[in-house]
Amino acid sequence: MIDYRENFPLLRRIYAEHPLQYFDNAATAPKPQVVIDAVNDYYNLHNANVHRGPNFLAEEATTLYEDARLSVADFIGAQREEIIFTAGTTASINLVARSWGETNLKKGDVVALSRAEHHANIVPWLQLKEKIGIVLEYIDINEDGTFNTESLDKIFAQPKLRFLAITLASNVLGQYYDLKPIIKRAKSLGVISLVDAAQGISHRPLNVKELGADFLAFSGHKLFAPSGIGVLYGRQELLEDMSPFLGGGGMIAEVLEQSYLPAELPDKFEAGTPNIEGAIALGAAIKFIKKIGWTEIVSREKFLSDYFLEKIQELDFVQVLGGEVNRLPLFSLVLKDLHPHDVADLLGERGIIVRAGHHCAQTLHDYFQVPATLRASLSFYNTKEEIDYFINSLLEIKALLQS
Ligand SMILES: Cc1ncc(COP(=O)(O)O)c(C=O)c1O
Repeated sequence: MIDYRENFPLLRRIYAEHPLQYFDNAATAPKPQVVIDAVNDYYNLHNANVHRGPNFLAEEATTLYEDARLSVADFIGAQREEIIFTAGTTASINLVARSWGETNLKKGDVVALSRAEHHANIVPWLQLKEKIGIVLEYIDINEDGTFNTESLDKIFAQPKLRFLAITLASNVLGQYYDLKPIIKRAKSLGVISLVDAAQGISHRPLNVKELGADFLAFSGHKLFAPSGIGVLYGRQELLEDMSPFLGGGGMIAEVLEQSYLPAELPDKFEAGTPNIEGAIALGAAIKFIKKIGWTEIVSREKFLSDYFLEKIQELDFVQVLGGEVNRLPLFSLVLKDLHPHDVADLLGERGIIVRAGHHCAQTLHDYFQVPATLRASLSFYNTKEEIDYFINSLLEIKALLQS
């Protein structure tokens, strides 16, 4: 078996004599050397603003930046005009809520979310509710992590349903959703859709045209790229009709004292100096993923997911949230008589990085009536041996805390 851990300098770290074991990929993924090199090369060799100076440095930086956009477009099956670089998923969703939402939604209009949303796909809509009085409706989730079909039917029967903002994969339940039929149904009713692909993007191939989404958002940092770079995909006709969310340099064709003309897509939505090195490194991350290949990534993650589930289900003090079908290697654990924060601390002492809390999904935790969980989120490069070490460590920590 290929050891993909070798690609990630972070994973060579030793903490308290333990090799680092990274089970927090859903929070942010480690960066492969090729991504770190792309950032360094930009600063060491180019370091210029894009779309500006008439010199070779600026030309090189612009070419690298625009090539990265083409890589992203190709990665998700979009046109280059439809790829807006943002600061991340949160920024992308806020852009849609402000730019599309404020213009196209009015008091009483219904925006449907699922109960599996991250705060990033709830709060911008709550803000719009405060501002213009839209109504939020939530699609119920079954115990096994799937969408409740009765609840879906009820929401689709709402005559004022205008917008669907929905996650591709839950950062708590590990469920990867088949959104195609839901989006198709939304489309047939003239409902615009936004997909939060923050978790889904790094685990399965994705094609926005096949998915049928009107908007789709993701972050670079969960896809092995740096933080502070993300993507908003928007269907070209929709983006053409929208007003720019931020104003400034780079997003204009002309500025007069009393008026301005926005630039063409995608520049219209990229005001100010963008995260140039982040975008270039996102291009490098995509190249890295393509080189490994989706077949390899999906099959390794399936193996890890099945193995983790098998092992964790042997522990009588642990309950896993969500189901088994279409599960990513992401597990939120309810620990009987143990506080997840204490366990996460002690796992950290053994070099194992996990997350504890509600994972920015407080409403989902409330819905399942659990205050906090311990989340282990794996990626294709993790190993069976790491899972064994994790399970043994959990058993030791339980014995220690309950002795
Ligand atoms: C499903 C989901 N949506 C949105 C986000 C927000 O991503 P970011 O903080 O990179 O904007 C996250 C981050 O954990 C997430 O898991």
